[in-house]
Amino acid sequence: MSKLFQDYDLRGLKLRNRIVMAPMTRSRVPSTVPDALTAEYYGQRAGAGLIIGEGAQVSEQARGYLFTPGLHASAQVQGWKGVTAAVHERGGAIFAQLWHVGRVAHCSVQPFDRKPVAPVAVAAAGVNAYGYREDGTPGQMPASKPRALDTDEIPKITADFVAAARNAIEAGFDGVEIHGANGYLFEQFINGGLNTRDDRYGGPSIDNRLRLLLETVDAVAEAIGSHRTGVRVSPFNRGFDMPAFEGEAETWLAAVKALAAREPAYLHISNRDSMMANAGKDFVQRFRAAWPGTLIVAGRYGKEHAERDLESGLADLVAFGRPFISNPDLVDRLRNGWPLAEADPATFYGGGAAGYTDYPAWEESLETA
Ligand code: FNR
Repeated sequence: MSKLFQDYDLRGLKLRNRIVMAPMTRSRVPSTVPDALTAEYYGQRAGAGLIIGEGAQVSEQARGYLFTPGLHASAQVQGWKGVTAAVHERGGAIFAQLWHVGRVAHCSVQPFDRKPVAPVAVAAAGVNAYGYREDGTPGQMPASKPRALDTDEIPKITADFVAAARNAIEAGFDGVEIHGANGYLFEQFINGGLNTRDDRYGGPSIDNRLRLLLETVDAVAEAIGSHRTGVRVSPFNRGFDMPAFEGEAETWLAAVKALAAREPAYLHISNRDSMMANAGKDFVQRFRAAWPGTLIVAGRYGKEHAERDLESGLADLVAFGRPFISNPDLVDRLRNGWPLAEADPATFYGGGAAGYTDYPAWEESLETA
């Protein structure tokens, strides 16, 4: 049998297959409290070996976009309970993704219209965020210029992740994924081109730039267990104005080594394709060799490529993003060789059931036809 459909022991959590649903923001939670529609959407996709929920902000300050859910208030915890129940009833497993956007935000989504926070007061050039226009209507606007965090504010951010991780467990999640990828707060700290701070959280020292992520991983693992703490990263990502920087490969290899020593549940690479293109195959192999634990890899996978990377040992689990949007029964389709439906980018973010819960499973689509 193809490895894709073999079960997997994720530090005591039994996964029915090696297909992961990648975390995907869908911006359909206007109140920040997940509801019945959210539960229906995730329940439909419970055939995945593991679902990673969409980014959930750990505090109001952490929020970068309108209509994204949170994990910092009791109403949100109650809302997520419906989601985790819907997945568990169908035999699935689900982690929450814990998110702080840093500077990728417009001040209209921040409390009291404050500036978003970042390692340094440098705006993300050419980056849009989803906020309120001056006339009060929602829209895409250039990310605001952030303010640099004071050194003594930084432990509060770690504390917010810990509180959100505890909330996630209370809400019934099987674990959490710390969102260290895609140009958001942790990557802003790790990036040596951007983070020119002169305190213990920045500057030329790799240890300093990794400190926020590692302190947060340690604190979350202490609170809920390292076996329930995953970490997502995107080495050599250029999205959201992340510049190339000197010592980039050394930085990421040091990150892997430091994370490996902490034995989190898994490491998750969000950008296989751009990492391969920007860093080269040699770096990817060194990265894999430095990681002894479970590695999840995402980025433009199809069935064949996924099987190849599982067989070669590059990945232990493969995450699919967009294919899960339009194929709620993606695992069955891959197993049976049924055709895949294309996802419509026009309905990725915002709106209601259309483009969210109305993509049929293959067998349903045959019945309607
Ligand atoms: C994403 N991605 C993403 N990543 C993440 O870590 N947290 C998130 O909330 C989101 N949100 C999100 C929304 C949408 C609509 C898309 C398409 C993507 C990235 C995603 O997890 C994945 O890494 C990429 O989509 C690459 O995988 P695919 O889509 O090529 O299989």
